[in-house]
Amino acid sequence: MRPPLDAEPGRRAAVAAVLGLALAAGALLRAAAPCPVPCVCHNLSESLSTLCARRGLLAVPLDVDRRTVELRLADNFIRAVGPPDFANMSGLVDLTLARNGLETLRPLAFGDLESLRALHLDGNRLAEIGPAALRGLLNLQHLSVNNNQLVAVAPAAFADFQLSLEDLDLSYNNLREAPWAGIRGMANLHTLQLEHNLIGTVEPGVFSELARLARLDLTSNRLATLAPEPALAVTPAALALSFGGNPLRCNCELLWLRRLGRDAGELETCAAPPAVAGRYFWAVPEEDFVCEPPLVARHTRHLRVLEGQRAALRCRALGDPEPVVHWVAPGERMVANSSRAVAYPNGTLELAAATLGDAGAYTCIAVNAAGEATARVELRVLPLPHGDGGGAAVGLPGPSDMAAKATGNTTGEEEEEEEKEPGQAVEVAEVTAHSALVQWEANKMAPTAWVYQLQYNCTDDEVLVYRILPGSSRHFLLKHLVPGAAYDLRALDGALDFALGAS
Ligand SMILES: *[C@@H]1O[C@H](CO)[C@@H](O)[C@H](O)[C@H]1NC(C)=O
Ligand SMILES: *[C@@H]1O[C@H](CO)[C@@H](O)[C@H](O)[C@H]1NC(C)=O
Ligand SMILES: *[C@@H]1O[C@H](CO)[C@@H](O)[C@H](O)[C@H]1NC(C)=O
Ligand SMILES: *[C@@H]1O[C@H](CO)[C@@H](O)[C@H](O)[C@H]1NC(C)=O
Ligand SMILES: *[C@@H]1O[C@H](CO)[C@@H](O)[C@H](O)[C@H]1NC(C)=O
Ligand SMILES: *[C@@H]1O[C@H](CO)[C@@H](O)[C@H](O)[C@H]1NC(C)=O
Repeated sequence: MRPPLDAEPGRRAAVAAVLGLALAAGALLRAAAPCPVPCVCHNLSESLSTLCARRGLLAVPLDVDRRTVELRLADNFIRAVGPPDFANMSGLVDLTLARNGLETLRPLAFGDLESLRALHLDGNRLAEIGPAALRGLLNLQHLSVNNNQLVAVAPAAFADFQLSLEDLDLSYNNLREAPWAGIRGMANLHTLQLEHNLIGTVEPGVFSELARLARLDLTSNRLATLAPEPALAVTPAALALSFGGNPLRCNCELLWLRRLGRDAGELETCAAPPAVAGRYFWAVPEEDFVCEPPLVARHTRHLRVLEGQRAALRCRALGDPEPVVHWVAPGERMVANSSRAVAYPNGTLELAAATLGDAGAYTCIAVNAAGEATARVELRVLPLPHGDGGGAAVGLPGPSDMAAKATGNTTGEEEEEEEKEPGQAVEVAEVTAHSALVQWEANKMAPTAWVYQLQYNCTDDEVLVYRILPGSSRHFLLKHLVPGAAYDLRALDGALDFALGAS
């Protein structure tokens, strides 16, 4: 069927309308470069916006007008960005790359974006921010990288906008450590969001330079304590501080925070110590925020090692908070870590190869916020028989004939004596390369021991050796020892066990 003739003018009008649209588009095209095909572009008040959200994009379009001021690329499938995606966009002010499954920020990806104020990277799959990933963002004010999978942020990653940044959102990531070094100098930072990470420590003093900070969110991390931060101890109105959902240890170290006296009834809860566990932080009275001074629970009293052998001096201290152990060597020298000596956090001081000069009285000092405690450890270094060490000249009582039995080998037995209870003494009286004599006194706490049980094993084979001895025994000779191996020995009398660990 042919259309009726009178339909013709209507069709002509439709064609004219289409033509008019094309002309209008042409006018726009004359002023602006072509808009990327899937996107919409506006040039309002002389600033160009390129809107490409939800367009199924797999990459940043190549033909984005370099003069664009706003670029929206949210909700696409862009897995990686890097040069030249945003090259020459020196007038870009706002860039959104949220919710793309973005995994990679290549170095200098944003290198030309010197005018960028806001960068939205939230809702992606970024695991790390490398040192040059954000380089060139000289005027960045707002950065959101929340809801990613961040485990690492390079210390220098924020260097180019340290003074311009106002809002930083790193919440809902997997950070065990916040990039404190980068945050520290952010003089204009207003809001810092670190909630829902795995952060276990706040670097002391980190907030001291953040004079403008008005909101700090540390909710749901792994913070047990927080060192006193004068910068946070401002009036509640000036700083919104949230730290609920952390395993807070409400002892004297957190008293300063309790004294900020915010409203009771917020979500902050104490996780420890047991006396206040489970109670609302703000509801626990200040006088219940208490610490326990250190107590040296167990330490080496006397240790004999052959010259050249490893010596482990132990000092186990209890207290709340966990005491830090320092060591003072003979001659009042503080022991610092070196190639020869390492002081471990568990209180053990390890000398890699004892020299005759290492012998003497050591002191371990356990310190925490509530006080300190000390213990003495005597180290004897038994000289080797060979002439060059000059060992024989030292003339330590006893050991010279014992060392002679080591038949010229430079290894020997190392035995360490440890006592759990005052009044008990287990001693390794004689050590040779192949044997050790263990002696003890009657246990004053349990004078009627029927039997003693000795157990020992060594690093050489994993076999645990048992010996049952009559209650009247006061010594035992360990034979067939392997030179240079480490031994663990325990003596049990049924009531108390005193352990003798050599390693
Ligand atoms: C936006 O429009 C203004 C004037 O209408 C024009 O001068 C400018 O070049 C346009 N910008 C772009 C990027 O097209
Ligand atoms: C950026 O500008 C430089 C210099 O004008 C030019 O050589 C280069 O091709 C531009 N790059 C892009 C991706 O537009
Ligand atoms: C000494 O080294 C040990 C082991 O590497 C380390 O755990 C400890 O923190 C160090 N101590 C000091 C004071 O640096
Ligand atoms: C202390 O820590 C060191 C290093 O981790 C370890 O070798 C040593 O056995 C520990 N000592 C004790 C008594 O736990
Ligand atoms: C010395 O001890 C080492 C290791 O324990 C062993 O390999 C070596 O054969 C011994 N030398 C002598 C002379 O006994
Ligand atoms: C001795 O055996 C115990 C228990 O199996 C083990 O923990 C310890 O490390 C062993 N000691 C040595 C020196 O092999």
